[in-house]
Amino acid sequence: MVEITKLDKEEIQKLLEFEKKNDEHILTYDSIINDLKNENYTYLLAKLDKKIVGYISFLHVDIELTITGIVVDKKYRNKGIATLLYEYVEKQNSDIKNIFLEVRESNNTAISFYEKLNFKKIDIRKNYYKNPIENAIIYTKKIFSKI
Ligand SMILES: CC(C)(COP(=O)(O)OP(=O)(O)OC[C@H]1O[C@@H](n2cnc3c(N)ncnc32)[C@H](O)[C@@H]1OP(=O)(O)O)[C@@H](O)C(=O)NCCC(=O)NCCS
Repeated sequence: MVEITKLDKEEIQKLLEFEKKNDEHILTYDSIINDLKNENYTYLLAKLDKKIVGYISFLHVDIELTITGIVVDKKYRNKGIATLLYEYVEKQNSDIKNIFLEVRESNNTAISFYEKLNFKKIDIRKNYYKNPIENAIIYTKKIFSKI
């Protein structure tokens, strides 16, 4: 069973190894430490038999939540782990009204993932990403009160 836990400082090195293994090179030790200094920032890990198989990071300010990262282990993709992480965040942050994120225009897998979760495209930021230069698509999802 997949377990979801908050990132502990002692696990940062393991998270960096996880990213490297999955050809993602966004995080650094210092960037994570810096994010964790912000009480609105959260990193959640998905673990299988204590091994990291995915993570999601987000910034929650007032009624808005911005997803800043989501990665699943290549070996465990398409098994619902990212959906599990996302749904956990939406459920645990029940006061939110809007969720935002940005994604590379060519990242069809992530786009399909977000669109399946009912995110809607609202904008394009030209040449937003570097290495390689690429447009970012901005997605948002409105959360309506379940009451
Ligand atoms: C995007 C990512 C997080 C999805 O993780 P995942 O655990 O495989 O996703 P899930 O199993 O929960 O998939 C749910 C939906 O995502 C989409 N999806 C997942 N893998 C896909 C693929 N290979 N091709 C197309 N769509 C795909 C589908 O809509 C899928 O729904 P379905 O199963 O009904 O077809 C994962 O592919 C990943 O880590 N990619 C690299 C990092 C990345 O690009 N992160 C996003 C940055 S903005």
